[in-house]
Amino acid sequence: MPNGLFTPFRIGSLELRNRIIVSPMCQYSADEGRATDWHVIHLGHLALSGASLLSVEATAVEPEGRISAGDLGLWSDDTEAALARTLDSVRRWSDVPIAIQLAHAGRKASTRVPWEGSTQIPPHAPGGWQTVAPSPQPFGPTDHPPIALDRGGLRRIREAFASTAARAGRLGFDAVQLHSAHGYLLHEFLSPLSNLRDDEYGGSLENRMRFPLEVFDAIRAAFPGDRPVTVRVSATDWAPGGWDIEQTLAFAQALERRGCSAIDASSGGLTTAQRIPVGPNYQVPFARALKSATGLAVVAVGLITEFEQAEAIIATGDADFVALARGILYDPRWPWHAAAHFGASVSAPNQYLRSQPVRLRNLFSAGTPK
Ligand SMILES: Cc1cc2nc3c(=O)[nH]c(=O)nc-3n(C[C@H](O)[C@H](O)[C@H](O)COP(=O)(O)O)c2cc1C
Repeated sequence: MPNGLFTPFRIGSLELRNRIIVSPMCQYSADEGRATDWHVIHLGHLALSGASLLSVEATAVEPEGRISAGDLGLWSDDTEAALARTLDSVRRWSDVPIAIQLAHAGRKASTRVPWEGSTQIPPHAPGGWQTVAPSPQPFGPTDHPPIALDRGGLRRIREAFASTAARAGRLGFDAVQLHSAHGYLLHEFLSPLSNLRDDEYGGSLENRMRFPLEVFDAIRAAFPGDRPVTVRVSATDWAPGGWDIEQTLAFAQALERRGCSAIDASSGGLTTAQRIPVGPNYQVPFARALKSATGLAVVAVGLITEFEQAEAIIATGDADFVALARGILYDPRWPWHAAAHFGASVSAPNQYLRSQPVRLRNLFSAGTPK
C-alpha cells in the first residue's frame, strides 16, 4: 500500500489507523496535579477528532517538575485516581489510542501560566518553588538560579519517572512519551549550553546523554513491555555551541538500541539566544534526517496546517506521522476535513453519524464502540 495520511502504520505493537497524531498540549488547568473537568472537555473533544493517537499533555513526575502550578501530574495515588476518572470518561465514548507524555521541567519549572505571562515565580513567592537542573545556570538572566542535582537528586528523579510510568501502565495508556525537548530537564542534560557538569553526567556527548538514557531505561522497564515508549527531542537548540542534529542522531540511535519505538522531532526551547527560522515544515528536515539514520518510527511536528502539506510529508517518506497542536485546537475536526479532501474515511461517534455530508457517503468508517 502506498504511504499516505490515511494509511495505517504501527508504532511498535500499536496499530494506528492513520498518520495524524494530536500533539501533547499543556492545559495548565490541573488542581495540585489532579486532572479536572477541563481535561474531560479538552481530551474528550480531541478524542473525537479522527486522529489516530491522542497525546495527553506533559505530565509531571514530581510536583517540582511542573512548569506551572496548574500542570498535570502523576506522582501519587491521588493524581492517578483523578486521571483514571478522566480516562474512564473519554474511553466510554471513544476507542482512540491514548499516549501520555512524562516530563520534568527542570530549570524552566515554577512559572506563571501563559495567560499570566509565563514568567518565573521565585521560590518563597506564592505559587513558586526551587527549581533543579544539571547545573546552577538559570534559563533567563533574571531568573532565580536552579540547584544542580546531586546523585541523590538524580536517583530520586529517575525513580519518579519509573513510578509514573508504572502508574501510566496501570491506567491503561497505550503508549508513553518521554519529554526530552523544549529546554526541560532532560534536554538540559543533553545540551552543552545548560549542562556544565564535570562528573560523568557532563562534558562529552556520551556523558550528557547518560541521564536521559538512564531515565529512558527506567521508563522502558516500568511500562508494560508490549506497549511502546517514544521520545520527543529538540533536534537543535538553534544557537551556536548548542545541541544540534548530529548529536540528536547519535541520541536517537542510542535510544533505538534500548528499545525506543518512535521519535518526535521538535526543536528549540533551551536558550534565550535561540534564533528559529519559523515557517511551514521548518522542523521536517530533522524528521527526514532521523528517518535516514534510524529505523525508528518518526513524527514530524511544527506548523503543519494544510492537508496537502501533511500528505506530502507522509507520501515522500519524510516522516511516518504528523503531529498537530495549534491547528487541531483551531479545527478539532481537521482529520475529518482532511479525509473528506482526500476521499478517505475516519471513525466518527455514533451520535454524529448523521452529520456526514450527502456528497461524502463513505467519510465515516465506524461508530463509537458499544
Ligand atoms: C497550548 C500548547 C501546549 C503545548 N504543550 C506541550 C506539551 O505539553 N508538550 C510538548 O512536548 N509540547 C507542547 N506544545 C508544543 C506542541 O506539542 C507542538 O510541538 C508545537 O505547538 C508545534 O506544533 P503546531 O505548529 O502544530 O502547534 C504545546 C503547544 C501548545 C500550542
